[in-house]
Amino acid sequence: MADDRIAAVTALEVLDSRGNPTVEVEVRLEDGSTGRAIVPSGASTGAHEAHEMRDGDAKRFGGKGVLDAMTNVETEVADAVVGQLAHDQQGLDRLLVSLDGTANKSRLGANALLGVSLAVAHASAASKGVPLYVSLGGTDAHLLPLPLFNVLNGGKHAEDSTDFQEFMLAPVGAPTFREAVRYGVEVYQALKKLLGERGFSTNIGDEGGFAPSLANNVAAVELLVEAITAAGYRPGEDVALALDPATTELYEDGHYTLKSEGRLLSSAEMVDLWADWCARYPIVSIEDGLAEDDWEGWQLLTSRLGRTIQLVGDDLLVTNSERLDRAISLNASNAILVKVNQIGTLTEAIAATQTALSTPGWAAVMSHRSGETEDTTIADLAVALGTGQIKTGATARGERTAKYNRLLRIEAQLGARASYAGGSMLSQRR
Ligand code: PGA
Ligand code: ZN
Repeated sequence: MADDRIAAVTALEVLDSRGNPTVEVEVRLEDGSTGRAIVPSGASTGAHEAHEMRDGDAKRFGGKGVLDAMTNVETEVADAVVGQLAHDQQGLDRLLVSLDGTANKSRLGANALLGVSLAVAHASAASKGVPLYVSLGGTDAHLLPLPLFNVLNGGKHAEDSTDFQEFMLAPVGAPTFREAVRYGVEVYQALKKLLGERGFSTNIGDEGGFAPSLANNVAAVELLVEAITAAGYRPGEDVALALDPATTELYEDGHYTLKSEGRLLSSAEMVDLWADWCARYPIVSIEDGLAEDDWEGWQLLTSRLGRTIQLVGDDLLVTNSERLDRAISLNASNAILVKVNQIGTLTEAIAATQTALSTPGWAAVMSHRSGETEDTTIADLAVALGTGQIKTGATARGERTAKYNRLLRIEAQLGARASYAGGSMLSQRR
């Protein structure tokens, strides 16, 4: 690996799945190896996320261009990282963090830095001649994650659908990842049929899930349970439910607004709502059940439900080790959602994941963004880090299936060494 030094770094403005521009970075090493990564982008972003740099030039892409971030990659960042050893990911990421110098990577842009960080990881794997999951996770990495299929989209990901953002299928009882995918597809198709029969739209939202205008939020959960049964599976045993209501988006002036139901709820009433749903439906995981700064509410929620339900912090934790440490010490949530672009370097995302996985009763869920691309880095990361859980949308839309397909390939490559996590890595089971 003597010559795995970085020789060149280039950037390109490409498109994400919503048709918005995003940063692609390509890195070439002195030994001729190359690596490429495309940065994802969220819609229901948390206030504490690292900074996504957009040009703000209204004449291009409605202000969403990323030419400034590209320029940062090709000038200042390239100047700093050329000559660095690609296999020293930690050293490289430390350099990126200090080069930026701000707490939220606002000077150079987290999208610029993440593109470089991930592209270098890919180049290093290419240089070693191994797949990314082996390069990052070693030859022992073998755990295929429980896929959380987001089959019904609402909130910011679909107009006129539910207030809550994501209703997901968790095939906890499948014997293998491949079978888990089949379970997911069959329930997705059963759900489509049910919606059609009842005169609801089967158009899909940003993450490939259906986006019907239902009478209320709980109707979505009931439909999913029906679809699981209609597909021939046992709700809870074969296929359980996971939710991401993304309630930061519903929170204002101390209240949560369920617009479609004309209701305003306090934190304590939201906790009651989740407790009620968990008592009635086979729910194993709730993400962002409360808003990003409602720490007291999260403590209440965790003391009420944390022993039996996985409570995932997305906007709450933003893949940030400091916020994670606070949540662990306050007993506020019991799992972290890992989105590489929330923090801006691979090393920092890995550190947060490892802290969660090494804390008893805690879990980590690898995650896509609502704005995605054909980049499949997170599939390899889930296996490399052994998170045992991934959410990357429905079993439809190419940018979502790209990740599931990558995991199918990894499972096939591992052969008899592959094992499927099922529900074993949910926080309440650890
Ligand atoms: P986002 O949604 O990528 O739009 O933030 C995903 C999520 O909230 O988990
Ligand atoms: Zn979320």
